[in-house]
Amino acid sequence: MSTYTATDKSKVTTRTLAEMKARGEKIACITAYDYTIASLVDAAGIDFILVGDSAANVMLGHSTTIPITLDEMIVYAKGVVRGAKRAFVVVDMPFGTVTADVNTSLKNAIRVIQQSGGEAVKIEGGSEIAPAIEAILAAGIPVVGHLGLTPQSVNVFGGYAVRAKEEEEAARLIADAKMLDSLGCCAIVLEKVPSALAAEVARSVKAPIIGIGAGNGVDGQILVVQDMLGMNRGFKPKFLRHYGNLGDLIEQSVNSYVGDVKTVDFPSATECY
Ligand code: KIV
Repeated sequence: MSTYTATDKSKVTTRTLAEMKARGEKIACITAYDYTIASLVDAAGIDFILVGDSAANVMLGHSTTIPITLDEMIVYAKGVVRGAKRAFVVVDMPFGTVTADVNTSLKNAIRVIQQSGGEAVKIEGGSEIAPAIEAILAAGIPVVGHLGLTPQSVNVFGGYAVRAKEEEEAARLIADAKMLDSLGCCAIVLEKVPSALAAEVARSVKAPIIGIGAGNGVDGQILVVQDMLGMNRGFKPKFLRHYGNLGDLIEQSVNSYVGDVKTVDFPSATECY
């Protein structure tokens, strides 16, 4: 594990992401859902914060991302936007908010950007929603695509297994990535696909490819912040590296506090007015 000192403190924009890909600098991305964590990851030098609909899982305790609403996403995003000074802030469009219905999709994307202050939206899906993505881009909203394992389609896929292992799905994924790139998406998330395929996609498109479980031949990486900090105990897919053990730390710290309250050790004389 390494330490990183940022030299460029200027605001990350869509242009920065394109420049980073052009010069081969990897893009470090993470999720966040509140002001405090956004401030901390921003200070740590993260380039790109995603207010992911994984908030459904890690903030609200749902078993899939499907139940989270646009209003809930906007509340989380508002806090993140206030905490992020340098990072590019992207807000996920939740399940059912971007579909073949172009007008409703556009209205939803405009509402997210206007009400949250986020700089871009992320949208799961490919050719089936191309007209909606085109309209959102035409309205001046940067779009991050999301292909491969798109968790909003878990009930179609029948689980969270690696996608595009077969030739036909891999070819469709490459075609979708090229389509999103030609529409003008500022980045594309590729989730849980074979590394060789992800690297091929990254070589084939201008948009930076941000991987999660997609190997290191892509242009950047993203992880869910609670997962990489070890707060989501018991969740350890192959692609995840733990950078901390905050789950145990929080439990032990709060347990010490409980003990101190019960034994009247806290507050001490120096902690009283
Ligand atoms: O919602 C999310 O956190 C995501 C990332 C896993 C890419 O979509």
